[in-house]
Amino acid sequence: NPVQAPQIDKCGVATNLNTGKQLDINCCPPMGKNIIDFKPPPLVQMRTRPSAHRVSAEYMFKYNTAIDRMKRLPKDDPRSFMQQANIHCAYCNGAYDQPGQGTLDLQVHNSWLFFPFHRWYLYFYERILGKLIGDPTFALPFWNWDNPKGMTIPPMFVDPKAAIYDAKRNPANMPPAVVDLGLTGNKDPLQVVSNNLTVMYSEMVRANSDIYDFMGKPYREGTLVNPGPGASERGSHVAIHVFVGDPREPSGEDLGNFYSAGRDPLFYCHHANVDRMWTLWQYFLPNNKLIDKKITDPDYLNASFLFYDENAQLVRVTVKDCLDNTKLGYDFERVDLPWLDYRP
Ligand code: C2O
Repeated sequence: NPVQAPQIDKCGVATNLNTGKQLDINCCPPMGKNIIDFKPPPLVQMRTRPSAHRVSAEYMFKYNTAIDRMKRLPKDDPRSFMQQANIHCAYCNGAYDQPGQGTLDLQVHNSWLFFPFHRWYLYFYERILGKLIGDPTFALPFWNWDNPKGMTIPPMFVDPKAAIYDAKRNPANMPPAVVDLGLTGNKDPLQVVSNNLTVMYSEMVRANSDIYDFMGKPYREGTLVNPGPGASERGSHVAIHVFVGDPREPSGEDLGNFYSAGRDPLFYCHHANVDRMWTLWQYFLPNNKLIDKKITDPDYLNASFLFYDENAQLVRVTVKDCLDNTKLGYDFERVDLPWLDYRP
């Protein structure tokens, strides 16, 4: 059977997975009165997610205004900045059990739920930001770390006065430090860039002999946590978390730890690119031996999650409704894919 959406009224204590200790924060969402099932929104105008390194001053202003307003919402508003950050903690640090499975933890990483869960998370986050600035066309930026032009922290995030700033980041990895997607530790920027492109080629094209190599291993009702991540989740995705997380903090906060990752606005920018990788893999890449890139298993398609939408309404969503990003009303700015030529 598919993993069912968690029961909010049974949400409990979360664990710091880096230390194994209980967290002294409550990351459970406020209780919702009724739950509605997600209906795809009417497609009025496509929201185009821009590359974070290329956005205009006008865009930066809008984005910062939206995040600032999110930070000013009442603490118990499920759309507020901390409540949104805590979604990641609740779904990833053992605050929820799988419904009907005793004390078996629910975990959305390291399995085929990774891409769909984060797609939904960003979808609602983006809708909330758009609502807060009265712009339904607002789209999150993506951190284009797969392209040499995007291989540093996007400059707009490093202004300490900006709402999208976060102090808990590794000071050694501020621009112009180049992301190290292979976690090589190599300090030569040119070598790292070229290695990054090779990493991208491997994750996106070469390492995928079956669908689960890319998507992550099956995770159903009753499956133990972490059956296995896909190439992209395990590789570049984790590398970016490690790159940004602050080594001066006890557990790599913010980006370097599940419970705190959502507290850094850069998290959503990073995951917009992870989401883009899924879309590229689905629709734009050479088929590399795979005939079919669709998982048809009903335990995948019917897995469900709960999110608060832009109107603070609790919504139950399923994996099958997020498979096509354009049906959710957003797409990505087109940029080059230089790694396609980096076959190792
Ligand atoms: Cu839910 Cu990048 O992790």
